[in-house]
Amino acid sequence: MSVPPALTINGQRYEVGDVSPTTRLASFLHDHQLLGTHTTCYKGACGACIVVAAIPDPSNGVRRTMTINSCLVPVLACVGWELTTIEGLGNKYDGYHVIEERLTQHAGSQCGYCTPGMVMSMYGLSQSKDEWSAEDVEHQLDGTMCRCTGYRPILEAFKSLTPEDIEDAHKTRCLTTGKACSGCCSEKTKQGQTVAGQSLVRSLQLKDAAWHHPTSLQELLDTLAGFPEETKYTLIRGNTAQALYGCETYTEFIYTGDVPELSAVRLSTEELVFGGSVSITRLMDQLSFAAQTIEGYSYASQLVETWKYLGNTAVRNLGSWAGNLATKVNHHDFTSDIFVGLVAASAAITTVGPDGSTSIHTPEELLEKDLVAERRVILQLSFPPHGDNVFVRTIKVRPRTTTCLADVSAGFTLRVDAAAAHTVVDTPVIVFGGINPSFNRATATAKALTGKSLEDETVLQEALSVLASEVDPDSPPGGASPEYRQALTQTLLYKMVLEILGDSAGSAVVSGGSDLKRPVSSGQQTFPENTEAWPIGKPVTKIEAPIQCSGGEAEFITKIPARPGELFGFFITSTESNARLVSIDTTAALAVPGVVAVVTAEDIPGQNNLLAFAGEVVPGFKQPVFASERVEYYGQPIGLLVATNRGAAYAGRAAVKVTYEDQQPPVLTIEEALAKPLPMSQFPPVVVGDVSAGFAASSHIIEGAMRRGGQFHYHMETQVTVVNPTDNGFDVHSASQWLSETQRAISQVLDIPDNQVHVSAKRLGGGFGGKIDQCNIVSTATAVAAYKTRRPVRVQLDLADNMTIVGGREPYLCTYKAGVGFDDAGVLQAVQVFLTADSGYSGVDVSCPSAVDALPSCYSCPNWELHPQFILTNTPVTTWCRSPGTVEGVTFMENIMEHVAAELGVDPLAVRQKNLLPDGGMRRISKQVLKIRSRMAGQDLLDLPDEMKVPRNLISDMISQIMTSADVEQRKADVAQSNLDNRWKKRGLSVMPMLWPYSVPPVYPFSVMVAVNARDGSVSISHGGAEMGQGINTKVAQVAAYELGIPMDLISFVPSNVHSNPNSSVTGGSLGSDVCSYCVGEACKRIRSRLDTHQGQAGLVDPSWRDLVYSAFSAGVDISERYANGADEVKSYAVFGVACTEVELDVLTGQFIVLRSDILEDAGRSLSPLVDIGQVEGGFVMGQGLLTTEKVAFDSTTGKRLTDSVWTYHPPMALDIPADLRVSLLQDAPNPLGVQSSKVTSEPPLCLSFSVVMALRQAVTSARQDAGTTGWFQMDAPLTTERLQQLCLVAAGRLTLS
Ligand SMILES: Cc1cc2nc3c(=O)[nH]c(=O)nc-3n(C[C@H](O)[C@H](O)[C@H](O)COP(=O)(O)OP(=O)(O)OC[C@H]3O[C@@H](n4cnc5c(N)ncnc54)[C@H](O)[C@@H]3O)c2cc1C
Ligand code: FES
Ligand code: FES
Repeated sequence: MSVPPALTINGQRYEVGDVSPTTRLASFLHDHQLLGTHTTCYKGACGACIVVAAIPDPSNGVRRTMTINSCLVPVLACVGWELTTIEGLGNKYDGYHVIEERLTQHAGSQCGYCTPGMVMSMYGLSQSKDEWSAEDVEHQLDGTMCRCTGYRPILEAFKSLTPEDIEDAHKTRCLTTGKACSGCCSEKTKQGQTVAGQSLVRSLQLKDAAWHHPTSLQELLDTLAGFPEETKYTLIRGNTAQALYGCETYTEFIYTGDVPELSAVRLSTEELVFGGSVSITRLMDQLSFAAQTIEGYSYASQLVETWKYLGNTAVRNLGSWAGNLATKVNHHDFTSDIFVGLVAASAAITTVGPDGSTSIHTPEELLEKDLVAERRVILQLSFPPHGDNVFVRTIKVRPRTTTCLADVSAGFTLRVDAAAAHTVVDTPVIVFGGINPSFNRATATAKALTGKSLEDETVLQEALSVLASEVDPDSPPGGASPEYRQALTQTLLYKMVLEILGDSAGSAVVSGGSDLKRPVSSGQQTFPENTEAWPIGKPVTKIEAPIQCSGGEAEFITKIPARPGELFGFFITSTESNARLVSIDTTAALAVPGVVAVVTAEDIPGQNNLLAFAGEVVPGFKQPVFASERVEYYGQPIGLLVATNRGAAYAGRAAVKVTYEDQQPPVLTIEEALAKPLPMSQFPPVVVGDVSAGFAASSHIIEGAMRRGGQFHYHMETQVTVVNPTDNGFDVHSASQWLSETQRAISQVLDIPDNQVHVSAKRLGGGFGGKIDQCNIVSTATAVAAYKTRRPVRVQLDLADNMTIVGGREPYLCTYKAGVGFDDAGVLQAVQVFLTADSGYSGVDVSCPSAVDALPSCYSCPNWELHPQFILTNTPVTTWCRSPGTVEGVTFMENIMEHVAAELGVDPLAVRQKNLLPDGGMRRISKQVLKIRSRMAGQDLLDLPDEMKVPRNLISDMISQIMTSADVEQRKADVAQSNLDNRWKKRGLSVMPMLWPYSVPPVYPFSVMVAVNARDGSVSISHGGAEMGQGINTKVAQVAAYELGIPMDLISFVPSNVHSNPNSSVTGGSLGSDVCSYCVGEACKRIRSRLDTHQGQAGLVDPSWRDLVYSAFSAGVDISERYANGADEVKSYAVFGVACTEVELDVLTGQFIVLRSDILEDAGRSLSPLVDIGQVEGGFVMGQGLLTTEKVAFDSTTGKRLTDSVWTYHPPMALDIPADLRVSLLQDAPNPLGVQSSKVTSEPPLCLSFSVVMALRQAVTSARQDAGTTGWFQMDAPLTTERLQQLCLVAAGRLTLS
C-alpha cells in the first residue's frame, strides 16, 4: 500500500491531499489554518512568507535547515520535508520563543505584518549555524522587507541573540512544535545530521497535470524519454524563477531535488564540481571553503562576494545555480549573476540528454541550446583552477543593496604580468550582464587589451572607446537608461584596471577600484527619563508586540476566516490610459468554472463615486468606483469579477474582453500637463509682505527648480476588504484609516442608510495614508459585489494590482525665485515659490496647501509669496502619503537654502543659522490646510487668525546640541580631506534643521469609549483611530492608565468600529494618536473623578482599584464614559527636528552608503519614547527611500506604470539604512500646547531624510569640481544610482590612471 505524500509541519504530519503542482506552500498553510505566515509579494522579494525547512540532501542523506519562501515553493516539492512555521515557535498560551521576546523587547514590531517573516528568518539562521556574527544576521535579513520600523530595532534584537539564548529556549520549548517540552528532542534539524530516508511517491497524476518525483538520474531521464513529443513539461528545483517570468501551463512537472547525482559536490585540485540541483547558498559555501583551502581557487571568493547580493538568502537557499542558468538560456534578457560569474571563471557545464549522452559546454555555448526541445538536463558545473597571476573580478551595480537584479554586472579575468608594467598576457575574458539579450562578451575590448600594458593611459582610453562602440544597451521598461548602463560598462572596466594596478595607479584614483564597504550597522537611542507621569513617558514596548511577534496571533483582515459561500474578487482594469470605454464582454469569463458574476458601473444602485467627505476636500472632483464612459488611467477599475476561488477569479478576469475607442495620448508628467491647455487648479497663495520690494532690496536673486517623483506606500498588507451581507445590512471589515468615510462611501454607493453599514477594523498591516480614502476603491467595489450576489465577498489586491490601481504620493515640481540680502551674508529678503503637485486623474487628495504651509520651516523672511497649485494627469489618483505636503514644503525650502549657500559660496549651515525664525516669531497660518481638514471632519471652517506665534524656535539650541553630539566640525574636516584625497569616492556631511507645522483644525473629532468592567476592574477601550503600527493603542493605554491610576495591563482594546466610535475623523496627519490619547484621557478623568467622589462619599480608605470600581458600580455610579473632542480642544503647534547625515558615494557607479545619521527629534514630553523612536527611525528610512531608491515611472505611450513590481520598485531594505543610526529625543522640552505635554512624531522625521540628499549634494559637488565644473546644479529626486552617477559628470575621458 503506498503512503500518501505528506510533509511535517511543526512536528505534525500533513498529507498533501488534493492540490495542483502549482499550489504553493503558503496557500497550503493557509488552507490548513496556519495563518501566521503572511504573504505580500508572492515573488520571493519581501520575506513575509518565510518558513524554515529541514530538507534532506539526496546525495548524502544530510538534512539541511534553511529559510525558504513559502510563496514560491510548490507544496508537492516539500514532501518529506520538516517545516517550522511561526506557529511552531511561541505563543501566548505556552510562552514566547526567545526570538519573539527579544524582538518585542527591542520594539522591533510596528504594524506586525512583516514580523512573522522576520522571526522565522532569525530562527532559520539559528537552526542552520552553530555560531553567527552580527554580519550574518544583517545578511540573513537581506530579503525581508519592513516598511514601518526602519529595520534598526529588528537588527539589534537579532544581533543580541547568542546560540546559548536559542539553546536555552530549546530547553523549555520544543524546536519543532513550540510547545513546552523536557528538552529531550533530538537536534535532527541541525545541519550535518542525517535522518532515515523517506520513501517518496514517484509519480502523481493530479487533476490537471502530473507531478514526478524521481530519485535517481536514470529515473529522471526515463521520465523525460517517456513523454510524447508535444508534452509541455518543466523541471523544478526551487521554483523561484517563476517569480521572474511567471508560470506557463504544463502537463508534466519533474521535481529534481531528490536526484542524488544532481546534488553531488566534489572538490579537488583539478576541479570543483557541483550538481545541477545544488543551491546557490551551498555553491557559495563550498566555493568559500575551496578558496581558503584548495590551491588554485582563491579567485572563487570573488564570485562569492558578488553572489552575496544575488537575490536574497531565502531565494539562494532553494534556488539552484542550474535553475538560474536555465532561466538565462530560456530568457536571454535575464541579468543572471550566475552566468556572468561562470563566464568569468571559465566554468564548464555538462548537460545530459534523455538517452544518457552527455555534452560539455561553455556557459555561452549553453545559451545557444534549446534545453526544453532537446529535453536536456543541466547535470553539473565544473570550475577550473586559476594561477595566482590570474585576476578574476565580478561586480554588480544595482539600484538597491539586496533583492534586486543588476543594472549592469561585469566579470573580468585577466592574466597579468605585474613585473612587466602590468601587461595583459593572453586574451582576457570580459563579460557584461544587463546590456541586451544578445550581448555578453566584450570581445573587441578584450582584444584591444591583449598584450598591452595596463599602466599605459592610451591603452585604457583605446579600450574604453572600443568598449563604447561594441556595447549597445537596450531600454528595458522601468529599468536604468541605456546611457547609464553604457557608461557603467566603461567605469567597471576602469575599476578593474585600477584594482589590478593598485599602488601603480595614482593615489587619488586608486580607491576607485574597490567597492564601497558598508560597516556592520549599529544604533544608539537616547530619550529623557520623564518619570513624573509614568506610565505616560515610560519606555514601554508596543502592547501588541508579543502577539505580533508570535505564532501569527495578531489578527489582520486577511486572516478573517471565510464564511460559507464567500466569493473572491479580482478587478478588471483598463489597459488604456485615456480612451472611451465601448464595451465589456464578460461572456467567456462567466463560462469559466467557478466564476459567479462580474459587477460593473451598471450594478451600482446609488452613486458611482467612492468618495464621501474625502471628496469634499476640493469640491467638484469625484472618483468613480468603476469607469463607465472614459477610462482615465492604465489600471483603472472597470469591473470586479467574483468567483468561488482565487484561481477561477484570475482565469475569469483574463477572459474578459474590453473594447475602447478614441484613444488619446496620455498626459503623464507635470511638465506635460503644464504644457497643455488643461485646467490647472490653484489655491489662494500665502502672501506675507511684498516680494517685489524684497527682490528690489536683494543683492542676489536666484532662480531654480526641483522635481520630486511619487512614492508607492508599500504597506505590507495590501488593500483588503471583506463584506458580509447580514439581516440588517452589511458587515464590513476594511483596512481603512477612516472608518466613517468608508461607511458613508459604501452607503452612498449602495444607496442605503449609514446605519446598515457596520465597518470595523482591528489593525492594519501598515497604512501610511494609502488607506485613508483610496481603500474605498476596494471597499466600495466589494460592497457592490456583495450586494449583487447576496454573498460574502473578499477582495485583497495582489501587490502588482495594488501598485497599478491605487495611486501613491504626489509627484511635485517646485520652481522658485529667492532674494538674498544686501550684506552678502545670505539673509533672505524675498521667497517666491510655485509648488505644483500631480494629483493623478482627479484632484481629490491634494496636498499643495500643506506644502506651502510647511515651506517656511524654521526660517524667517519679511516677504513670502507661496503658490500652491495642482494639475491632472492620466495616472491613478495620487493620495496622502506619510507627511503629505509637509515633506515637500520642508525639503524644497532646504533645497533653496542650499542654493543660496552655493550662490554665495558659503557653508550651508551658516546660511541657515542666519535665517532662523526668532523666538516669538510669527508664522502665517495656511487656512487652506485647516479648511481641508475641517471639511474632512464635516465642518466648514469658522474664523481663524492669520498668524501663529512660535514662542520658541528650538532649532538654534538643537543645532548646537547636534554639533557636539555628532562631532560635526571634526567630521566635516575629515570629509573635506577625504574628498581631496579621493577622486572616485566622495563623502558629504549635512546638518538639516526642520520646523514641521502640526495643524489641527478647530473641529476634528474622534469618538472614544472607555468601559470599566465592574467585577474585576479591567478596562476596555475602543477609539475611532486606526492601529496601523504607529502605536496608537500603546499611547492611549499609557494615558488611560495614568488618568485612572491603574497598571497598563488592566487595559485592553476593542476594534475600532463606526458604532462605538461614530463619526471619527481620519487617522492621518499625525492626528490619530494625539487626539485619541487626548479623548481617552478626558474620558478617564471623568471616570476617575466620579470614582474619587464616590470614594469620599462611601468613606472608603485606600481601596484597591477593583474594590473601588465595584463599590461605585454597586452604588449606581456610571463607570463607563464616551468622549469626543469638541472645538479647539486639541491645539496646533510646531515640531522641531535636526539631522546630521554623512554619506559615501562611489562616483563611478552612483551607488552610495549612508554612513551615519544623527537625529535629534522634539517629541515634547514624549508620551511613549520607544514608540516615538520607532516612528522617527521608520519615518526617516521611508523618506530615504522616497528621495533615493524609489523611482516611479510610466510608459509614455500606454500610460502603464512601469515600476509596478518588485523588480522595478525599490524601497529600502535592511542593508540600505544608515549604517550608524543615532536617535535622540530632545530633553526638557514639554509642550504646553500638546496632549500631556507631548508632540507628534509619526510624520515629521520623514522630512529629515532630506539630510541624505544634502549630504549627497556635497559628495556630488566635489566630484563635479574634480571634473572642472563648479556652481549650482539642479538635483531632482529620487537620487537613483543612475542620477547620481550622471550628476557626477563621469565621462570616459576623465577615467585616468593618475
Ligand atoms: C526575489 C528573487 C531575486 C532574485 N535575484 C536574482 C539576482 O539578483 N541575480 C540573479 O542572477 N538571479 C536572481 N534571481 C533568480 C534566481 O537565482 C533563480 O530564480 C534561481 O536560481 C532559479 O533556481 P530554481 O532552482 O528555483 O529554478 P526553478 O525555478 O526550479 O527552475 C527555473 C528553470 O530552470 C529549469 N531547470 C531547473 N533545473 C534544471 C536543470 N537541472 N536542467 C535544466 N533545466 C533546469 C526549469 O525547467 C525552469 O525552466 C532572483 C530570484 C528571485 C525570486
Ligand atoms: S510573499 Fe513570499 S517573499 Fe513576499
Ligand atoms: S512592522 Fe514591519 S512592515 Fe510593519
